[in-house]
Amino acid sequence: MKKKANKKDGFSTTAVHAGEIRYNEYGSITTPIVQSSTFIFKNIEDIKKLAEGVTGRFEYGRYGHPAQVAAEGKLAALEETEDAVLFSSGMSAITTTLFALLKAGDHIIITDDAYKRTLDFCLKCLDRFDIECTVVKMGDYEAIEKAIKPNTKVFFSESPTNPYLNIMDMERLMKIFKGKDIYVISDSTFATPYNQKPLEYGVDLVIHSATKYLGGHNDLLSGVVLGRKELTDGIREYLKITGGCIDPHSSYLLIRGLKTFELRMQRHNATAQAVAEYLEKHPKVNRVYYPGLKSHPHYEIAKKQMKGFGGVVTFEVEHDVSYALNFLSKLKIINIGPSLGGVESLITHPATVSYYAITKKERLELGITDGLIRLAVGVENTEDIIRDIEQALE
Ligand SMILES: Cc1ncc(COP(=O)(O)O)c(C=O)c1O
Repeated sequence: MKKKANKKDGFSTTAVHAGEIRYNEYGSITTPIVQSSTFIFKNIEDIKKLAEGVTGRFEYGRYGHPAQVAAEGKLAALEETEDAVLFSSGMSAITTTLFALLKAGDHIIITDDAYKRTLDFCLKCLDRFDIECTVVKMGDYEAIEKAIKPNTKVFFSESPTNPYLNIMDMERLMKIFKGKDIYVISDSTFATPYNQKPLEYGVDLVIHSATKYLGGHNDLLSGVVLGRKELTDGIREYLKITGGCIDPHSSYLLIRGLKTFELRMQRHNATAQAVAEYLEKHPKVNRVYYPGLKSHPHYEIAKKQMKGFGGVVTFEVEHDVSYALNFLSKLKIINIGPSLGGVESLITHPATVSYYAITKKERLELGITDGLIRLAVGVENTEDIIRDIEQALE
């Protein structure tokens, strides 16, 4: 029996119970991991019933399995929408969704500070299929409107963005697209459904890299696309072709991670706010970017549309690359590494890690300075994280 989310349930109650396959064959309180690539039939009649749509059941691992269905039910309930489709990674969710929605001759608009690999896909892969892409400046709403053409099919953006945590004004954005036959997609990975619900503003599809806060423990890769079933049904069909399906064990880890989702997000939000406020006062820090700070250019928009501001804080230290790298190497609790949203705090130096393949001039044009550092706070004690930063800055 599949546990349905009750509209009256609070966020954590939904996170713990929604989607779970309760009163299963084994009586286990947890949803079982059915580690099987295929599902067998008693006889040919059984296969016929499936083909004719008389029975809904599992057939082949790439088309779905119990833990995937449970995780999708939980995620749809948390995002308060009809359906969720899970993938093997965030990039798989993004590429399959765009393949499903676009065809040769179409046009896509994307904001310039979207995740680098998403931009790569739009600029380096989609053009091979005769799909045109326009990159617009995040926050330039006039440029977004001007970029729309008769063949525009998709608008793709993120909020908050990496690394400056720019915020899209959803109300303003949706005024531009109201009544237009264009799918608006929001990658909400940095916000999560705890902090922000883009679908409430009329966005058509929300995407998350579930590798980050949804999984929450730096131990799985996954992605999810959420929205109305009339849209997700087509994307699910494409997933069956592109094959980026989530495996049973990762699905289970995702379910398990989601049970503490609200608790983790509360800690991420509170610690990041405290760290941002601490850094803003530090003499060796030039600038702090965090949407929960009044100094952030999009503070007012963030306050209006977000419940919390997330666990990522970006800041610029004085001096040069060696000072920044020396700071990173002195940290004792915070680990150096890419990614975000897990229980372990992670820190990265974008100029060295994410933008090493381009020249310094190109990096600076993108706003990636030598002293820029991105910290993704985990759920360790707030005071310990601040103390760790303090000793490393000294
Ligand atoms: C905003 C955003 N979207 C998508 C992705 C891709 O997700 P994944 O690494 O799960 O493929 C990332 C990865 O860092 C991301 O930061």
